[in-house]
Amino acid sequence: MARLLVCYGSTEGQTATVAERIGDVLDERGHEVTLANLKHPPDGLSPSESDGVVVAASIHAGSHQPYVGAFVRDHLEELARLPSAFVSVSLSAAHADEADRAPAGEMLEAFLDETGWEPDETLTVAGALRYSQYGLLKRFAMKRIAGRASGDTDTSRDYEYTDWDAVEAFAAGFASLVDREA
Ligand SMILES: Cc1cc2nc3c(=O)[nH]c(=O)nc-3n(C[C@H](O)[C@H](O)[C@H](O)COP(=O)(O)O)c2cc1C
Repeated sequence: MARLLVCYGSTEGQTATVAERIGDVLDERGHEVTLANLKHPPDGLSPSESDGVVVAASIHAGSHQPYVGAFVRDHLEELARLPSAFVSVSLSAAHADEADRAPAGEMLEAFLDETGWEPDETLTVAGALRYSQYGLLKRFAMKRIAGRASGDTDTSRDYEYTDWDAVEAFAAGFASLVDREA
């Protein structure tokens, strides 16, 4: 049994749910999982207490939560010694067309370039539109963005694009990597 840290940044909650699902899969595989919100990390949270780390973050206005980048930069050496994975949640990843999805991969790569982290595994995940949780300005901005992207502009309801099977398969793959490294 390995001790695994699954930590995340999430502005509206979708990445928190993605991180929980990854944690559930790792738990089902018999590992001891610590889930941590990097916005309010427990005192002294460090990857060095773990045998593997998954970091997840979502994209807002072209970049991931800065506090997630700060955590990764602060712990680069520990991360380099452990099996690690980065999961990037965005609306760009929801596009059906491969060319339209490219920015999701580019923003993931930009995060890795900026932090200097080289995780073993990466995944882009389609997030959600939670109109019901947005204030007036955010709802207006997202309606315009979604109008160009998916056409899902009915602000009286929420939309979820996450491929949960892909998230679970990724988590199972990471569990196998940890098992091999153990
Ligand atoms: C204000 C705002 C800005 C966003 N900007 C982008 C963006 O630049 N690119 C993108 O692909 N998705 C963008 N999104 C979509 C989010 O990445 C998506 O809603 C995701 O599910 C949010 O994850 P979270 O709930 O964990 O914060 C934006 C969402 C909001 C609300």
